[in-house]
Amino acid sequence: MCGIIGYVGNRQAQPLLLDSLSKLEYRGYDSCGLAVGGNSIKVFKNAGRVEELRAASPLLQGTVAIGHTRWATHGSPSSINAHPHVDCNGRIAVVHNGVITNYQTLRQRLIIEGHNFVSETDTEVIPHLIEKHYKGNIEKAVEAALGEIEGSYAIAVLAAKDAKLVVARKGCPLIIGVSDRENFVASDVPALLEYTNSVIYLENGDIGVITADSIKITRDGIEVDRKEEKIFWSIEDVQKGGYEHFMLKEIHEQPRAIRDTIEECLSSNSSPVLGRNIENLSMVACGTSYHAALIGKYVIEELLAIPVAVEIASEFNHRRRQPIPTSTAIVLTQSGETADVLVAMKRLLEVARTIVVITNVPGSTATRIAKQTVYIKAGPEVSVAATKTFTAQLIALYQLILSCPSLNRRICKRLVAELRTMPSAVQQVLNNESEIMDCARILSQYDNAFFIGRGISFPIALEGALKLKEISYIHAEGCAAGELKHGPLALAHKDVPIIAITPQDSTYEAMVTNIKEVKARDAPVIALVDETDGIMEQLADFVIRVPHVTSIFSAVVNAVAVQLLAYYAAKYRGCPIDFPRNLAKSVTVE
Ligand code: F6R
Repeated sequence: MCGIIGYVGNRQAQPLLLDSLSKLEYRGYDSCGLAVGGNSIKVFKNAGRVEELRAASPLLQGTVAIGHTRWATHGSPSSINAHPHVDCNGRIAVVHNGVITNYQTLRQRLIIEGHNFVSETDTEVIPHLIEKHYKGNIEKAVEAALGEIEGSYAIAVLAAKDAKLVVARKGCPLIIGVSDRENFVASDVPALLEYTNSVIYLENGDIGVITADSIKITRDGIEVDRKEEKIFWSIEDVQKGGYEHFMLKEIHEQPRAIRDTIEECLSSNSSPVLGRNIENLSMVACGTSYHAALIGKYVIEELLAIPVAVEIASEFNHRRRQPIPTSTAIVLTQSGETADVLVAMKRLLEVARTIVVITNVPGSTATRIAKQTVYIKAGPEVSVAATKTFTAQLIALYQLILSCPSLNRRICKRLVAELRTMPSAVQQVLNNESEIMDCARILSQYDNAFFIGRGISFPIALEGALKLKEISYIHAEGCAAGELKHGPLALAHKDVPIIAITPQDSTYEAMVTNIKEVKARDAPVIALVDETDGIMEQLADFVIRVPHVTSIFSAVVNAVAVQLLAYYAAKYRGCPIDFPRNLAKSVTVE
């Protein structure tokens, strides 16, 4: 969703900001803009892509600046609604992520007091409030303005004649990038990677004043010390590296991401998340992470016999009744910033003895709420569609389960050994890309599709359908294969392909029956099968073979196959794969 970048130093800020804004594109946005400081503030914004902003904006001289990519919430994606927003005199410019919930009351009051508004946004009240409180000290004016605001924010403020930025956060992430005789602020790390790998994560309630060679952070008017941390991601991680799309690069990075996640989990000294005395577990997540949680439930119940309740975070949050007390809650969120998940975590604090988050982003808000954090080592994921973070989440879940002391040691040893072979199993799927491309070419010609699976493959069916719909815009549904006859079978006909996830496990025979049922209704079938399968070639129209692995790990190899299927279907349809319409990488609104 919205992205923030700010710079103060000795270089010309405009080109640097435009480059950083393009690194924020992956968050999803529909308009963008920047403001460059100096004796006066020069603002330039447009409804559209960063490249259009770059092409259209005049040369704006100045060494202090703020920029923004906006994902419209209050008001259409127009140039007027794009950030930065300014006060009446155009001397204070603000970029903002988050939602000001009392903006209408504030706006009415400010209009009565003589302030002139031009946009439909909630953000515009901020520069006007700062203007109202400004008596020569911008920091104090920002503090007073924030005192009147309800809701969530990460802001960067630039005032004319000042060679500094004032920044603040409450509920939305904001990071200061520390460098030599220049400093930065950004909503997330990829925007900074080209310039620095030293960062300071602001805490909720912090206000920072940043100049080229100083950083001062206060909270309730008192100076606080925030630790500088090193980021181990590199600029190469956020470049395409010769691939046509980030999504394809990230799909191909999975053997490495899985290997690194296994190593990270093995080297962790923390006590097992799943101890002997766990009576029940809750898991909360959204979207693709929710599908990983469903797979976790399946494996935990099978191997550890601990009952698991998995909930979609937004549903969990809107339930009136108090959540059921739980020994341990596991929260999955690759970004660590999903608003629905963060709200759920706050509710869970009341009922869970311990909350563990599995995430990819160090320092993210979820890690600050959780008692324990398990980092997946996927590296930055730029494409909106989650791929390597999904399989890395699965690996982290397997590790949690396999390190549970109540698991039979012999079974554990065998599974740990097999887990270590997953990078090469995934590589085998990737080596089979051309077979998957052929199936994707066929799939791309349809407008509707069903993914079906049973047991551990049901969440993979859900995930396959989600991937396909979000990047190729083919309408796709994931369905428990046993549910077909309870309704969806009415749609089985020659124009609706069925993608059947059919590993060699206890669900196989029932899946064969389901495939026969849809074939009898002329539906084309693409079957994902184990390499040892000897039957499916005669039944299905097209077959994608994946390596033979133990049932619980089949989710990983099948996940990679459905990712490639969705990717190539979208490519053949000419879709903007990395930045699908209306979607954002990090969903920071409820
Ligand atoms: C789909 C996708 C989303 C996310 C969801 C939750 O490809 O990426 O469905 O999984 O928005 O995001 P996180 O995991 O960051 O909480």
